[in-house]
Amino acid sequence: MSKTNEWWRSATIYQIYPKSFCDTTGSGSGDIKGIISKLDYLCYLGIDAIWITPIYQSPQIDNGYDVSDFYTISPEYGTMDDFDDLLAQAHSRGLRVIMDMVFNHTSTAHPWFQSALESKDNPYRDFYIWRDPVNGQPPNNWQSKFGDSAWELDAHSGQYYLHLFAKEQADLNWENPAVRQNIKNIMQFWAEKGVDGFRLDVINLISKQQDFPDDNEGDGRRFYTDGPKVHKYLQEMNKAIFQRYGVVTVGEMSSTSLEHCRQYSSLSGKELSMVFNFHHLKVDYPCGEKWQLEPFDFLQMKKIFRDWQQGLFNQGWNALFWCNHDQPRIVSRFGCDKKFRVESAKMLATAIHLMQGTPYIYQGEELGMTNPNFQNIDDYRDVESLNAYHMLIAKGLPKEEVLTILSAKSRDNSRTPMHWNDSKNAGFTTGTPWINCASNSVEINAKQSIEDNKSVFYHYRDLIRLRKSISIITDGDYEDLLPYHLDIFCYRRKNDKNEMVVLNNFRPYHVTLDNFGISLSGGDVLIQNYKDFVNIESVSSLTLRPFESVAILF
Ligand code: NOJ
Repeated sequence: MSKTNEWWRSATIYQIYPKSFCDTTGSGSGDIKGIISKLDYLCYLGIDAIWITPIYQSPQIDNGYDVSDFYTISPEYGTMDDFDDLLAQAHSRGLRVIMDMVFNHTSTAHPWFQSALESKDNPYRDFYIWRDPVNGQPPNNWQSKFGDSAWELDAHSGQYYLHLFAKEQADLNWENPAVRQNIKNIMQFWAEKGVDGFRLDVINLISKQQDFPDDNEGDGRRFYTDGPKVHKYLQEMNKAIFQRYGVVTVGEMSSTSLEHCRQYSSLSGKELSMVFNFHHLKVDYPCGEKWQLEPFDFLQMKKIFRDWQQGLFNQGWNALFWCNHDQPRIVSRFGCDKKFRVESAKMLATAIHLMQGTPYIYQGEELGMTNPNFQNIDDYRDVESLNAYHMLIAKGLPKEEVLTILSAKSRDNSRTPMHWNDSKNAGFTTGTPWINCASNSVEINAKQSIEDNKSVFYHYRDLIRLRKSISIITDGDYEDLLPYHLDIFCYRRKNDKNEMVVLNNFRPYHVTLDNFGISLSGGDVLIQNYKDFVNIESVSSLTLRPFESVAILF
């Protein structure tokens, strides 16, 4: 098959966060049988594949991203038989299944780490990254992504181990060939079961600069992001597993660069199929500081999309997304979660789905779900959010201000239970949910959305279908038509057959484009979020209503 012709280039992938998806046992936590029970819903939406976040055995310090056994399903989600059933049932409906693989680190409860703790010469010691203290302090000043030092002391041996995330997530030592062999074995096990792909967690952090220097300019990330041997390791995995089993691979890239992503996702297919990067979302992080409230930088967002759309065109492949389990809900973030919730949810969907790449829909996004607006620290469960709370309080910020920041930025915003219907707990569980539901499930839920043909759900469904029928969405080039306009995001896609103009008003007010200068005559409306888009024959000045969005095909 030609490298530009693979199934995933015109596919849409749906992300499932199983803990919050559907609970069939009343435990308050979602399970595999719950996923099976919703496969028909997903088929009706029209998606091609599901990505399931980790369901392996885990102490759940980071909701499964702390794996203690990669070969076992965590009992809270069910059994391996349930998983096999899920795979068979998904395949019988034509849905592919992508598993999340966490190989930058393991849980400290993993038997490898437990053996490593036994003694310095245990063969598993070298599966992890150990360093001696420097003047009684951690080996360097690198910071964990979840706050504080990235090193934890093992009092028994007197050495520190590296953890770029929670202290219960110890970084693996990819320099050790035995580690890489074990990782291949794990992927082989899942590929042989028949899974169709892997999402590789923070895969661009696996290769650390081996002298572990202090970072006088930052938190250390420049010494392990897109590190010295990362491409070599991915090529090794690609040869041994990805190519051999024909699996699709999507790499989660933390603070990466376009240059590296060209190589990770290059059309030669030597490393990964596609890349998630987060730059377009960080536009509301002034100076890289997540825990602050600032309006987002719209021009910068457009620039980032332009750079990545053009930068990977004919060279690599983007994963397109607004939402995932680490991000607040997109309508609450860049749209409007009250008066214009439906319009803004549809506009945001259009803006991203008509770019080049493979779109990912995060559970509930297709309903226009919002942040829950939690008012109390007891509502939060996420390790990163709880650490941030304590860090901000320790810095002297008033509690109310800290809670306001969390209610906008916390990862728990997207982890609340999926809204299935308007019954208690949104139809997610008959028990007590592990995290509270948002309070608006009576208005916003899947049942209501399916009954209303103007719902956000049907807009997503249309976008998914368009991608399959109009090749320009998959193969057209990209031009940013109004890069300096403060309200409108307008881009043009072109291939040898067609041209498509996509207009999106990112504001809750009317915006008039005088002397618009771009002829829309002769085009057909492909998709819109207000049903009566202005007569496109006679446009010299064009007014877009609040969050209005329209795509026109010529
Ligand atoms: C990225 C995952 O998406 C996130 O949820 C997790 O906390 C970190 N990687 C660490 O595994």
